[in-house]
Amino acid sequence: MTAKIIDGKLTAENIRAEVAAAVAERVKAGKSKPGLATVLVGDDPGSHTYVRSKHKACLEAGIESFGHELPANATQAEVEQLVMQLNADPRVNGILVQLPMPSHIDEESVLKAISIEKDVDGFHPLNIGRLAQKGREPLFIPCTPAGCMYLLEKELPSLEGANAVVLGRSNIVGMPVALLLVRANATVTICHSRSRNLPEIIRKADILVAAVGRPEMVKGDWIKPGAVVIDVGINHVDDASRPKGYRIVGDVAYDEAVQVASAITPVPGGVGPMTIAMLLKNTLRAAEINDK
Ligand code: GUN
Repeated sequence: MTAKIIDGKLTAENIRAEVAAAVAERVKAGKSKPGLATVLVGDDPGSHTYVRSKHKACLEAGIESFGHELPANATQAEVEQLVMQLNADPRVNGILVQLPMPSHIDEESVLKAISIEKDVDGFHPLNIGRLAQKGREPLFIPCTPAGCMYLLEKELPSLEGANAVVLGRSNIVGMPVALLLVRANATVTICHSRSRNLPEIIRKADILVAAVGRPEMVKGDWIKPGAVVIDVGINHVDDASRPKGYRIVGDVAYDEAVQVASAITPVPGGVGPMTIAMLLKNTLRAAEINDK
């Protein structure tokens, strides 16, 4: 069997076009342009690249964006003051604080300072708490997990009763994606780098979401034949044959897995582009919530 390749790039382009059309429509109707503010603390090059792509995507969708950068030695009070200022700014519908922040910053305290109606990243403790509870509805769902679910549900319209294994337990991806899978009535196992018998656990998965950040950790023979594989990993590995001296691989050994799975997201071009598409969708929703 050769797996179907799940085209996250194309799916994300379609979502971005839908958001752009909805933004144009609301502006035509005399409503405000949605606005996204980003907060970037420190000089991590990866974070700078991500934030730049978010601004570019906003521009293309007709969403206003406001970039704020603070130095790596910014204080807790400075970061939180900036967030409060953005909470009060009517042009700003969504606030995204790029993670990780420098280690001296109390991340939870910053995320808690974001107005819940502007929490387009869905990381406010109240949004995450609601995500974890039955019968409660978060206002926003974190973008990468929402992107994983979008691709998954397109592939498998019902996840009910499926064995889903999430490899990785990060606040940004692993835990929220596991909570979303539970909400979709899957039977969910969360495992991580310290789990025992990983191959054995993963072999039982009808759905595998790999978000552990280890290049090609999941081998082809760990995958149940016919499983759907969502690979969230974005890992740089040295490769002298490439112009940049490296290539990007996922958490799954793709060439092996593609022979076993029924469908798989490639890296790059799978989950990656979905994060920004979901962010734009959430920002539009934040503007709509603000209209009410
Ligand atoms: N760092 C890596 N992914 C994300 C994300 O989705 N949102 C934020 N704020 N930071 C991140």
